[in-house]
Amino acid sequence: MPTLNWIGKEAVVTHDKEVPFRLLRKVKSASVGDNSQNLIIHGDNLEALKALMPYYVNKIDIITIDPPYNTGFEGWIYSDKVNSPKIKKWLGKTVGSESQDLTRHDKWLCMMYPRLKLLKELLSDEGVIFVNIDDNEQAHLKIIMDEIFGEGNFEHFVWKKKGGAGNTEKIIGTLTEHILCYFRNKKAGIFNYRNIEREYKLKDEFGPYNLGGIEKTNRGAYKRETMRFPITDPKTGKKFYPKENMRWTIGQDTVEKMIKNNELFFDYEKNKVYAIKRPENYEASENVHYNLLLDVGSLATAKNELQSLEFDRELFDTPKPVELIKHLLRISSKKDSIILDSFAGSGTAGHAVLDLNKEDNGNRKFIMIEMEDKVAKDITAERIKRAIKKYDYKDGFEYCELDKPLFNEEGQIEEECTFEQLATYIYFTETQTNIDKKKISGNFIGEYNEKDFYLIFKEKGKNVLNKSFLNKIKKSNNIKVIYADRCLLDENALDEMNIKFKQIPYEVERY
Ligand SMILES: C[S@@+](CC[C@H](N)C(=O)[O-])C[C@H]1O[C@@H](n2cnc3c(N)ncnc32)[C@H](O)[C@@H]1O
Repeated sequence: MPTLNWIGKEAVVTHDKEVPFRLLRKVKSASVGDNSQNLIIHGDNLEALKALMPYYVNKIDIITIDPPYNTGFEGWIYSDKVNSPKIKKWLGKTVGSESQDLTRHDKWLCMMYPRLKLLKELLSDEGVIFVNIDDNEQAHLKIIMDEIFGEGNFEHFVWKKKGGAGNTEKIIGTLTEHILCYFRNKKAGIFNYRNIEREYKLKDEFGPYNLGGIEKTNRGAYKRETMRFPITDPKTGKKFYPKENMRWTIGQDTVEKMIKNNELFFDYEKNKVYAIKRPENYEASENVHYNLLLDVGSLATAKNELQSLEFDRELFDTPKPVELIKHLLRISSKKDSIILDSFAGSGTAGHAVLDLNKEDNGNRKFIMIEMEDKVAKDITAERIKRAIKKYDYKDGFEYCELDKPLFNEEGQIEEECTFEQLATYIYFTETQTNIDKKKISGNFIGEYNEKDFYLIFKEKGKNVLNKSFLNKIKKSNNIKVIYADRCLLDENALDEMNIKFKQIPYEVERY
């Protein structure tokens, strides 16, 4: 299989292993409700994904990400502290447009590669990742994802994001974007069966259908006064006009054709006209999903959604519509799936999870990560807050900051680290699986592969393995791995009790 090489690749292939493990700190004042298990994390996703590992390795069911597209105009900054002279000179500098910056693609690949590696480790065996991308990086992304996830696990979706070309598009109007999809282990039966009636919620004598908007903004590059003509309902003669500052997306000829084919719906309550969209014949099959995503919201829908929650509609260049993410979740999620978006932006993924839960009484959970100071709290979390209020969603979320590294500068365990945090971390480094918190009992933190694990930490006085501790050990034939600051038992006593002592912090594995 061909692989891709770029400047800096050799320095980042194992960078995920070098990132320090940090603690997460919950910020109650920025959270909504108690214990919803939905998380919004403020921080760089490389460190945040690493921090999630002891809790979620191999447990995330669906990942939907929408990374910077590397258009040359986004002003994203490559700031991963990779220890390589080639890369060090890139740090903290804005990644500019192609003409000013010939290493734009190298930097983007250096940024994405270690993150994709961590995302793969977080995915469950039946998990799926969806990555939104446009043509700036699609080809590169496909090759590195083939390398990381395996080319046999690939599927490809195409999302129709808009109905017409913008004024910068001179030769080809690009109406679509890619969604690269990789299964952790591709096989039939991972995706849910389709349900036409669910996708097309309305029904008349001709079968199920949906309504789609036919208005768009009439400002700036989109201004077309000729597209502001009246549309007449042939049944009543009533004339409908586009709203102020809006215009139709279809011309007079198309309107006439659609009226003839009974494809327009006149909504007298809202004083609006909609297109009637019916499933095509080829969509009749229930067990095949199609990779062409036509009626799942557009860029304009996504901007309207932000506007309806009282944000500026131009907050993000490329927000995703809730319906697009809901569609991907309908295909792929179970009612109790955990969904991760590590490039959260305006928080569409979390909104989609809450909305789908409301629709089908599900209990899906979301984790979203956003790096920008100005975005995480005031946009990502605020959007979810407003959506919960407006649409009466039952769940809340916990807002977390990335906290100090677990090991401080002297190599000691950070003072603020709690017993449960260290237990979770140690159990993970010992077993590569997640701790079952319900099994923690006193100093016992769990068992795995005929080993019992104990942690003596945050004790009043000293964290010492001594004779009196032996009374706290469960009777079993398992090896007892005991973490403590000091051990006052001699070798014979340890052998007799089948104990392996590990000294904190020196024998706590750096993950
Ligand atoms: C294209 S936007 C996502 C838009 C989102 N899907 C929506 O619907 O609004 C990408 C987001 O990822 C964030 N981001 C970029 N690099 C990141 C990183 N290393 N860690 C966390 N967030 C990051 C950016 O700040 C930006 O908000």
